[in-house]
Amino acid sequence: MTTQTLRALKGQRPIVCVTAYDTPMARCADEAGVDLILVGDSVGNNVLGFSSTVPVTLDMMVHHTAAVSRAHPQALVVADLPFAEAHLDPGEVVRACRRLIQIGGAEAVKIEATAALAPVVERLVAAGIPVMGHVGLQPQRVNVLGGYRRVGQRVPEAEALREDAAALEHAGVFALLAETIDAALAAELTRQARVPLIGIGSGRDCDGQILVAHDVLGWHEGHAPSFVKPYAALHQDICAAFVAYAADVREHRFPAAPKAAAPAPTPDPAPRGKVAQG
Ligand code: KIV
Repeated sequence: MTTQTLRALKGQRPIVCVTAYDTPMARCADEAGVDLILVGDSVGNNVLGFSSTVPVTLDMMVHHTAAVSRAHPQALVVADLPFAEAHLDPGEVVRACRRLIQIGGAEAVKIEATAALAPVVERLVAAGIPVMGHVGLQPQRVNVLGGYRRVGQRVPEAEALREDAAALEHAGVFALLAETIDAALAAELTRQARVPLIGIGSGRDCDGQILVAHDVLGWHEGHAPSFVKPYAALHQDICAAFVAYAADVREHRFPAAPKAAAPAPTPDPAPRGKVAQG
């Protein structure tokens, strides 16, 4: 999958995207035939124990992107540009994206962006760095927003979202990701954009869907967002497996006792190689 083949899927069939943060997860997603693997900064909440994506650094993103790339997936690998990085000097932004691509092995970057970042996106694209624009709810801004909530239900917010999507498309993004925006607005933006619009919690009328792998797999203790459909219950299964292992060790069931020695073989009546004479 390339950014171009992904773009060509718009209007053809729904595009399947999921996050992954390490090699085995990327291998499983790729075996399932997903189109795009996002090394999301949600690695912070789902793997690293942070309560938001804000503490995730560029070094962490490079480390996890490299782990995903080592799975050599067919899917397009996109890495998140972490907290505030896109708002540095444009040269610094290019350097940060270069690390995600040259060292991490990503094929594209995702940036939480508004129309104000369009010139930066244009510069990245000119440098050969494909960009996915993340609009709507932007978790990196949680401390400004004061929490996570649906975006685009109020008229000024919807208008700002239309402007963001149009400006980013004009700046050259190969796709848009719309997080938790009003479903009718997501459908409208999907119709208007010439690039694929991938939704998360933004209704069904998008060009594709993305979910966080740990939500798909039921791999956390707390509640998943209401739009998530879990396809497994890994948290329970993993805990149950550890409980069973601990019980086996404590009860001397693991490791198993060595098997009793096999009985000695009975002697061969005719020496090998001699043919009986009749
Ligand atoms: O980091 C992330 O997981 C995301 C989600 C919106 C998919 O950006």
